[in-house]
Amino acid sequence: MSQSPDKLRSWAVINLSALERNLRAIRMAFPDYLQYIAVVKANAYGHGLAPVVTRLMRSEANAFAVANLEEAARLKEVGKGWPVLVLSALLPSEYKDAIHLKVCPVISSVDELHGFAATAKQLNSRVGVHVKIDTGMGRLGVWYPEFQELLNQLESCPEVRMDGLCTHFSSADSDPEFTTVQRNRFLTCLDLLPEITRQGIMVHADNSAGIESFPESGPFNGARVGLLQFGVRPRPGSFLANTYTEPVLSFHSRIGLVKNLPAGTAISYGQTYRLAKKSLIAVLTAGYADGLPTRLSNRGKVIIHDTLCPIIGRVTMDQTVVDLSGLEIPPVVGETATFIGKSQNQCITASQFAEWSGQIEWEAFCTLSPRTQRIYQTDSAV
Ligand SMILES: Cc1ncc(COP(=O)(O)O)c(C=O)c1O
Repeated sequence: MSQSPDKLRSWAVINLSALERNLRAIRMAFPDYLQYIAVVKANAYGHGLAPVVTRLMRSEANAFAVANLEEAARLKEVGKGWPVLVLSALLPSEYKDAIHLKVCPVISSVDELHGFAATAKQLNSRVGVHVKIDTGMGRLGVWYPEFQELLNQLESCPEVRMDGLCTHFSSADSDPEFTTVQRNRFLTCLDLLPEITRQGIMVHADNSAGIESFPESGPFNGARVGLLQFGVRPRPGSFLANTYTEPVLSFHSRIGLVKNLPAGTAISYGQTYRLAKKSLIAVLTAGYADGLPTRLSNRGKVIIHDTLCPIIGRVTMDQTVVDLSGLEIPPVVGETATFIGKSQNQCITASQFAEWSGQIEWEAFCTLSPRTQRIYQTDSAV
């Protein structure tokens, strides 16, 4: 059912022009030799895979990274020839499809190496992989002292070509010292490669936060950018601190009901909030099934009429109650309430929304449910 805008009950506006400006701004801050790997897993951080990827392809992304084969296949439908890294471990049952799809698996073990080699041989094919080293993330990757063994095995697997070497930082946004330890462990592994091999591969470690401590002189020629391209601002002190990235997404719902309630009335399930005085309240047409975490209950705020109004009582599946006491003119049913976004004098950033929600920004974006419709805008068509 197609919907006119005033029928939308919960929606996210995604500004593709802002996305493109962010990409270009980040690129400008990058050294020329650094390839931009756009991380678009989890439906492009909830922003919508196809529209986001289409825009990034038209801009200056060099490659893409997704979490799984399904995302990779959807991306390949948007644009065939692009390099696509699959960041999560693939299951042996998926190796064949990965080779058919011509994506680039990221492998972490000798078992995966042998599995891909055997599958490629069966298919009379070759597969390009990126080898990941666990330098302290404690998740994917071959544990760094064991990298040499994997390298030795690689020599006996002509069906597998190492197209890249990578690692992932656990605390790039909070622990620069440990990030340096990880970087150095990675560089020690890189030194194990013959110069000729090193020259021909993509070497990448940095995510958005890692980029902030990126050493300009180093062997890294790729960076995996996720959150930053969606406009969550770089931290002060980073080499991107002067790079302006703007929010891409705003999140809204509507006022479904306005009413007065007497002092002492308890609001919503569990009676977790009680009105101190006679109050005007609104019931919004969105709840946790739309992407409003219950942690916002009695903590979060929304913008109505350029004023921050507190969420009162427990957020429920489809509805959320707010206190309108701060408004001079009562809103009417159908008007907009903004969870993430700005008005003339008020702004709720994704970071603020995530903090109120007890989430990290990545999670807040991914929590936006399919029921929240995505509306795409470009500046010329606003
Ligand atoms: C392996 C890997 N690289 C890069 C990224 C992108 O990180 P960010 O969104 O902080 O830029 C992620 C995100 O989860 C990741 O898992």
